[in-house]
Amino acid sequence: MCVRGVASVSARARVFFEAVDSLFQRRLIFVTGKGGVGKSTVALALGIAAAHSGKRTIVAQLASGGYLQRAFDKRHGRHFEEIRLAPSLYTISIEAQAAMEEYLLVKVPGPVALLLSRSRLFGAFAMATPGMRELLQVGKAWELAQPQRRAREADPYDLVIVDLAATGHGIGTLRAPRTFAEIARVGPIAHQGEVIASTIADRAFTAVIAVTTAEEMPVNETLELHEQLLRDGLDLDAVIVNALYPERLSAADTAILRAALESCSATPGRAAIEIALSEHARAATQAQQAERLRAPFDGLLLSLPFLFEPELGRPQLERLAELLAERLA
Ligand SMILES: Nc1ncnc2c1ncn2[C@@H]1O[C@H](COP(=O)(O)OP(=O)(O)OP(=O)(O)O)[C@@H](O)[C@H]1O
Ligand SMILES: [Mg+2]
Repeated sequence: MCVRGVASVSARARVFFEAVDSLFQRRLIFVTGKGGVGKSTVALALGIAAAHSGKRTIVAQLASGGYLQRAFDKRHGRHFEEIRLAPSLYTISIEAQAAMEEYLLVKVPGPVALLLSRSRLFGAFAMATPGMRELLQVGKAWELAQPQRRAREADPYDLVIVDLAATGHGIGTLRAPRTFAEIARVGPIAHQGEVIASTIADRAFTAVIAVTTAEEMPVNETLELHEQLLRDGLDLDAVIVNALYPERLSAADTAILRAALESCSATPGRAAIEIALSEHARAATQAQQAERLRAPFDGLLLSLPFLFEPELGRPQLERLAELLAERLA
């Protein structure tokens, strides 16, 4: 277990470290799921949990740059900057264009790389190639996860958490290296594609996590995502059911509230009862949807509560990180 620079840790902290360590033994974690279900939130919470456990962690944002910087009150960095947010916690926004420039500088010697990376025609051509953006982005995530970084003067990370785009596009990103390896067959792109694809398929190195809410469409997409991953020779390592409403009322409580609603004529009283009953109804529907995930993902399911806050900032992300660590145990 990696607990750097911590001379003595409390018993509680030790439990925390051990809980997260099993998933965080990997070096690369991809987080995907339907649009808006909380992928970025979960990726950040996982990053915070990993950093607390002593792993030098970077959360790579492919789709939604800026969330983590805002939560930690940091400015937007330069393109591709690895921004330190807290001890052991970094973030980067991976843009395909910047990834291509870095790749060229590392792979092509001397001034040719500079010329190519500055050539608008070459850039436009490369970016128009289907799947090239995804290949470049996932290639950079792979580079970040290498014990010996390819990028100049770059320190290695213990863990890279990739906040992927929504399901369809996320799968495309995971698939891109294999597709390029198969199409190119020989040469440097085929070789690079093959190396990255093998790394993604190596379950000791890489984990794939699905985030979902307990609603019909996101649950359907999670089940489809699982099938697609299996077809690609990949699998899910955890499914996180996010934003669950609390079940605060028993059947007896709801019967009392329904009866009270019939007899209550005062507007504020009725509104409060209606809110309580609607929250209960939502929690009940969510429980049914979450149940659909139980059999296919037995042992892989984790849940996070809906936080009743106008906006999620650092304290809320810290709270979700703590819950994740507890539940990963
Ligand atoms: N557990 C939660 N409790 C309350 N609000 C949440 C929770 N998880 C996420 N949210 C809120 O839901 C919204 C969507 O979350 P987030 O941006 O993480 O989703 P996403 O899946 O990354 O979205 P996108 O597909 O657009 O990238 C955000 O406003 C976030 O603060
Ligand atoms: Mg997002």
